[in-house]
Amino acid sequence: MRTPVPDYLAEVADACAPSTGGELASYIPELTRVDPRYFGLAMATVDGSIYSVGDAEVEFTMQSISKAFVYGLALRDRGMRAVLEKVDVEPSGDPFDGLSFEASTGRPRNPMINAGAITAHTLVGKEGIDADERFDLIHRLLCDLAGRELRVDDEVWQSEVRTSDRNLAIAHMLRSKGVITDPAEEVISAYARQCAVLVTARDLAVMAATLANGGVQPVTGKRVFSGAQVRQLLSVMLTCGMYDSAGDWVSAVGIPAKSGVGGGILGALPSQLGIATFSPRLDAHGNSVRGIQTFERLTADMRLHLM
Ligand code: DON
Repeated sequence: MRTPVPDYLAEVADACAPSTGGELASYIPELTRVDPRYFGLAMATVDGSIYSVGDAEVEFTMQSISKAFVYGLALRDRGMRAVLEKVDVEPSGDPFDGLSFEASTGRPRNPMINAGAITAHTLVGKEGIDADERFDLIHRLLCDLAGRELRVDDEVWQSEVRTSDRNLAIAHMLRSKGVITDPAEEVISAYARQCAVLVTARDLAVMAATLANGGVQPVTGKRVFSGAQVRQLLSVMLTCGMYDSAGDWVSAVGIPAKSGVGGGILGALPSQLGIATFSPRLDAHGNSVRGIQTFERLTADMRLHLM
């Protein structure tokens, strides 16, 4: 039987999987236990068809990919104006863990870098809820996006908590300016737990397809975000989702995307597709080397570039 999409994805995987460039993230020690050879690729359409190849069913931690969705949840819970007052939407040109704040107010440059993501995390739910309640709301959102119950990798969570000096420093700076008010240790623990939610490339493709589909999960039919929330979060993904290589990404690939140091990248092509790759070796910016190669190949073949 002729299977054009799976055959094409297998061809892309054959071309991109053999590359061995990049290194596993080691600043979270538990992430060095992952097999660096994993390579998964998945695609989901806005009408709910899913195609995948390679290690697309292997679970890995979302890490920074969660930031995009948590920003969407903050927008949903607090509204655009309240969120913009706390977190700007300007590309920082700095690494993901950079100290990129507005000097006078302490407002982080954007919600994709750690400073902005930690702030957006605290804007989930009603004011005054505790860290566990906030995590539960985030977990529920991520499960709704994936259309299944997602687990947390407790080892990765605790490993990050034990090595969180830099994020704790960021949280203390945010507190010193009144941008966040909760205790830094509690916020960083819950933020690291959000980053340790386990997904597969297949899950990420469906989550990305939800954004491509204007906020409606294409398999379950559940509305997760409004059209306006999706527009805001795709805009920030396009300009800031790949940190200090966002310009390279936009010129070479040209679709809104978000990466994580667990090795995942997701991209959303509005009204059409969600795409996800999983390959744990990272470049100096913390983005998956083979993931980027794969997206470059897909965009060249399928003319995905929005411009
Ligand atoms: O906050 C951190 O450092 C990690 N939990 C997430 C960083 C990350 O995934 C950066 N993205 N490529």
